Amino acid sequence: MKTLLVTGSSGLIGSEVCLQFNRLGYRIHGVDNNQRAVFFGPQGDTRWNQKRLGSAIPQFQHHELDIRDRIGLLGLIRQVRPSAIIHTAAQPSHDRAAAIPFDDFDTNAVGTMNLLEAARQGCPESPFVHMSTNKVYGDAPNRIPLDELPTRWDYADLAYSEGIAEDFPIDQSKHSLFGASKLAADIMVQEYGRYFSLPTCCLRGGCLTGPNHSGVELHGFLSYLAKCNLLGREYKIFGYKGKQVRDNIHSEDVARFMACFCEAPRCGAVYNLGGGKQNSCSILEAFEMVESFSGQKQQYIYCDENRAGDHICYYSDLRKMKSDYPNWDITISLRETIGQIVDAWKGRI
Ligand SMILES: NC(=O)c1ccc[n+]([C@@H]2O[C@H](COP(=O)([O-])OP(=O)(O)OC[C@H]3O[C@@H](n4cnc5c(N)ncnc54)[C@H](O)[C@@H]3O)[C@@H](O)[C@H]2O)c1
Repeated sequence: MKTLLVTGSSGLIGSEVCLQFNRLGYRIHGVDNNQRAVFFGPQGDTRWNQKRLGSAIPQFQHHELDIRDRIGLLGLIRQVRPSAIIHTAAQPSHDRAAAIPFDDFDTNAVGTMNLLEAARQGCPESPFVHMSTNKVYGDAPNRIPLDELPTRWDYADLAYSEGIAEDFPIDQSKHSLFGASKLAADIMVQEYGRYFSLPTCCLRGGCLTGPNHSGVELHGFLSYLAKCNLLGREYKIFGYKGKQVRDNIHSEDVARFMACFCEAPRCGAVYNLGGGKQNSCSILEAFEMVESFSGQKQQYIYCDENRAGDHICYYSDLRKMKSDYPNWDITISLRETIGQIVDAWKGRI
């Protein structure tokens, strides 16, 4: 029987991956220490999701392990010898990183290195998928000339009409400490692919979302925005007139791509993984969509100052993913995703 090791298994992407690969017949080992509750407080707690996996997946094995524990990870990989590794554990917030720089770097950069080296020693032939981020491009996408439309910004330069591709420059821009720690991990994952020929892959995520996100103000904007709407709480917009654009992808479509990669892996691959232009929206547009499901007007306040290094307009060019893995495509529209998020919060708050 094939075995999958998933780090961050109680999080949004990790949990979806566990369910997806269970359906594909893998035995699932999850690694998570509920660090999200340490990063973001009780609102970020992911134990509910861990319990959900325990009941949904027969033989699901949870490992209460910190990915910063180098020896522990090495021991676990030697014991499990997974047929594939999917690495989604991280300190995931751009803004939170500045307050906890060592925790951020130790988790994102060193934790990834711990896992890579354990994989090289314990199962070098197994596909290794790393969840990276579009913040590796820093704020350089903000240099692209933009058009201001009534509810959103859009690229004025036709070279980007399909979005940002993988050859976009990664240095000499402001990344946030989070973007920098994730970039260190991204480069190392590529290096293990190129230098040691491990079948590794970096997925540079746009906004990954879905009904199982424990959205908080500092991470998981659609999930948090929907929660604010349902609770009648004010959502705070940080600059750019609320017209900043994000491309949103449902966690199921993320997990399906990971499965495609594990079936036909390459070494040192890099993909920009988001919802693409068709699943992009601005914050103002997200308000409207959430309101259409909840029937409640979104309360918000506007703060002139944007978040440091925040993208004004970002959507991923999905052409490389679709060309390398023609069986993969986006299957869940943004509207459907938002409907699912609203329904999920109704059951959880
Ligand atoms: N959600 C997004 O919009 C988004 C966008 C781009 C990239 N990403 C990346 O995708 C990955 C998954 O994101 P997510 O939204 O599922 O995050 P998440 O916070 O929902 O899940 C991450 C999980 O990892 C666990 N974790 C954190 N540190 C750990 C540690 N030291 N040891 C063990 N477990 C630990 C947390 O408890 C949490 O359950 C991350 O690498 C993130 O940077 C996410």
